[in-house]
Amino acid sequence: MLSLENLSTFYGNFEAIKGISMSVEQGELVAVIGANGAGKTTLMRTICGLHKPKIGRIMFADIDITSLGPVERVKKGIVYCPEGRMLFPEMKVSDNLEMGAYTCIDDLKKNFDKVLALFPVLKDRKNQLAGSLSGGEQQMLAIGRSLMGNPKLILFDEPSTGLAPIIAEELMQVIKQLNDEGKTVVLVEQNVHLALEISQRGYIIENGKIVLEGDALALRENEEVKRAYLGG
Ligand SMILES: Nc1ncnc2c1ncn2[C@@H]1O[C@H](COP(=O)(O)OP(=O)(O)O)[C@@H](O)[C@H]1O
Ligand SMILES: [Mg+2]
Repeated sequence: MLSLENLSTFYGNFEAIKGISMSVEQGELVAVIGANGAGKTTLMRTICGLHKPKIGRIMFADIDITSLGPVERVKKGIVYCPEGRMLFPEMKVSDNLEMGAYTCIDDLKKNFDKVLALFPVLKDRKNQLAGSLSGGEQQMLAIGRSLMGNPKLILFDEPSTGLAPIIAEELMQVIKQLNDEGKTVVLVEQNVHLALEISQRGYIIENGKIVLEGDALALRENEEVKRAYLGG
């Protein structure tokens, strides 16, 4: 479904993504794991069109989308759920959700109901300001906003960051459920335990390069991964 071919993305002269190739099949849940600064966010932003790669090609559903802008990519079904959530804290929960629907206004009501059914706590708080929600609720809202855009592929960037372990675990189960229901998912995480528990496959990224890839189970049992990311 998604295929990255030798992608390189620069900030000025600094090459943050160095010739990354990876693929995601329709229906897969694929983890991208790496330390702070490894290039995970740059990679996600390159996939969704917020950064232009200097080198390489991005194929989505057999179409070359490398030159498409971010809005065109959302219309094709690629939705980015950003690191740090990037909500509008001074806007109501319901208005934040509507912001996610700008490419498919016709489905707004239907998707709104679906999101509130998935996250009943947001239904109770739909008239509250987003900034007044707890961290976990804000992440639910960020996920909900992504779902408002009719995604085929959702790129989650560190959804568990800053959340209590039990809340993080719950959110992972929601992401797993979305995948079970047919959404293709790329999940960026520093929490390797959580990510590899629900993923089918994973890529390990260091200094802008993929250094290891494989089935989630094999990665969990890999000695290098254990040492570097799983605390021994
Ligand atoms: N806007 C930017 N300008 C310059 N350098 C950046 C910018 N954003 C990220 N970087 C650098 O690119 C590298 C990768 O960053 P990032 O993709 O945010 O990593 P990660 O998401 O894995 O923590 C880091 O060295 C970071 O300092
Ligand atoms: Mg990041």
